[in-house]
Amino acid sequence: MKVLVTDPIADAGLDRLADAGHTVETDYEVEGDALLEAVADANALIVRSGTEVTEAVFEAASDLVIVGRAGIGVDNIDIEAATDHGVIVANAPEGNVRAAAEHTVAMTFAVARSIPQAHARLKDGEWAKGAFLGTELNNKTLGIVGLGRVGQEVAKRLDSLGMDLVVYDPYISPERAEQFGAELVDDLHEALARADVATVHTPLLPETEGMIGADELAQLEGGYLINCARGGIVDEEALAAAVDDGVVAGAALDSFATEPLPADSPLLDVEDVVVTPHLGASTEAAQENVAVDTAEAVRSAFAEEPVLTALNAPSVDETAFPRIEPYIDVAETAGRVAAQLLDGRITSVEATYEGDIAAEDVELVTASALKGVFEPLEWQVNAVNAPRLADERGIEVTESKTRQTEDFQSLVRVTVHNGEESLAVEGTLFAGDDPRIVRIDGFRVDAVPYGHTLVARNTDEPGVIGFIGTVLGEHDVNIAGMFNARETQGGEALTVYNLDQAVPEAAVETLLDDARIVEVTEITLDDAGVRDAA
Ligand code: NAD
Ligand code: MLT
Repeated sequence: MKVLVTDPIADAGLDRLADAGHTVETDYEVEGDALLEAVADANALIVRSGTEVTEAVFEAASDLVIVGRAGIGVDNIDIEAATDHGVIVANAPEGNVRAAAEHTVAMTFAVARSIPQAHARLKDGEWAKGAFLGTELNNKTLGIVGLGRVGQEVAKRLDSLGMDLVVYDPYISPERAEQFGAELVDDLHEALARADVATVHTPLLPETEGMIGADELAQLEGGYLINCARGGIVDEEALAAAVDDGVVAGAALDSFATEPLPADSPLLDVEDVVVTPHLGASTEAAQENVAVDTAEAVRSAFAEEPVLTALNAPSVDETAFPRIEPYIDVAETAGRVAAQLLDGRITSVEATYEGDIAAEDVELVTASALKGVFEPLEWQVNAVNAPRLADERGIEVTESKTRQTEDFQSLVRVTVHNGEESLAVEGTLFAGDDPRIVRIDGFRVDAVPYGHTLVARNTDEPGVIGFIGTVLGEHDVNIAGMFNARETQGGEALTVYNLDQAVPEAAVETLLDDARIVEVTEITLDDAGVRDAA
């Protein structure tokens, strides 16, 4: 098999592939049409952050089985296109975590003690002892934005240096934060306002892009900002201005919206901004780790074994697959619906299997249920990494089985909890292959899970369903199907509508203005979009 490597990785990884009998070609300059030509007969492509793996690459590479990313961030890889072309994308999420955390700590000291500035002055022949008065970290407060793998390692290190820790991460539990001696807060502004030093460790997502701008920097007043995660999370112009104006004391950055950092970047003109050229993972150990992990992922993919670090491919036991396959979608849909109907941070997920399906190994089905729960949160999730994500974020996952079942041959129930309330959604297959949602939060329904779905809770009284239908009709939304269920006559009712179009905001507002409508949630099952109005 041919492995094309287009960004430098450590020899240990290249050797591992060559030792397994694969042909390894390295070309670290290749780009554009030349890349499309080089990848045309490749079975694996290995990159770091330098190569843009676009849809055109997948179109040109008909024999490609896997793209291995020797590192964590995959923002340079079009994962959707990879999935469309049936190509596994696997990263190496563990190997450089400690290096990135150490670099964050180094950058914190660098900016708090003006080490690069003092170094430059001394190299220029100036003994500027009186020019620098640093900030001691001991007894100061660290605000951590994103307590994932790198954030946790930073927390451990700076905690041991005597800092108090405050965390902002909407996807972890307070208990998880406490395990690292940190207090979880619900508001980014609060974390920044309390921090003397704020470190950023989120991925670059639509949700995190530009999340730290002028307003947030104003909250950090007098503190330091460190970003060794991804460019684009912090507004660079606003940061340069905030440091220049003395709103924040200084900043240290290892990653930038455009890399290499353009020579005209305002960050380069500000004395108290320390910059490094994306060196977070540049240690020998980290590079060897990620190269070896990536080579192992490629070897597994070639051997058709599960790739544990795959971001877009479910792993599967071949013999059980035909029996469990139809329930994978049922579980994912049930998870997706349940997560979108329950407000608040999810603290645990329970997958229950009843009837014939309970006799199977359902690990993959549960993973698919988790994928359904997490996907609306825009996590980079698939059935392979969903259980790991749950574990890392302190979300408890339980699985239970019973061969007994009341109404169906097999039933999958996904229950999500937010610490106070829980909500269960049940799904099954009619006639062996026709997926249905058969119960939502205790209401017996019969909903076909596809496209735009509206779930309405309303009082059970004459005219309500007609009213909802009229409002949808007035907004050109066609009802393809509906199912109504109620607790008791005159009690609360739940109605599921399958719609041909998305519901405009104005229609939701009109519905909610009516006292008979308790809650309306629009769920789009074809993608992660959801709008919840209550
Ligand atoms: P991770 O996925 O383990 O953790 C990310 C954390 O961010 C999660 O806990 C998640 O819940 C949290 N998060 C997501 N959205 C958030 C939001 N809106 N607000 C607050 N928190 C949010 O990722 P990781 O492995 O810890 O990597 C962290 C970052 O560091 C990534 O951007 C990665 O690419 C980058 N990185 C950079 C280098 C480098 O060389 N500079 C090296 C390694 C990693
Ligand atoms: C990563 O995402 O792993 C880092 O940005 C390190 C890198 O590959 O340079």
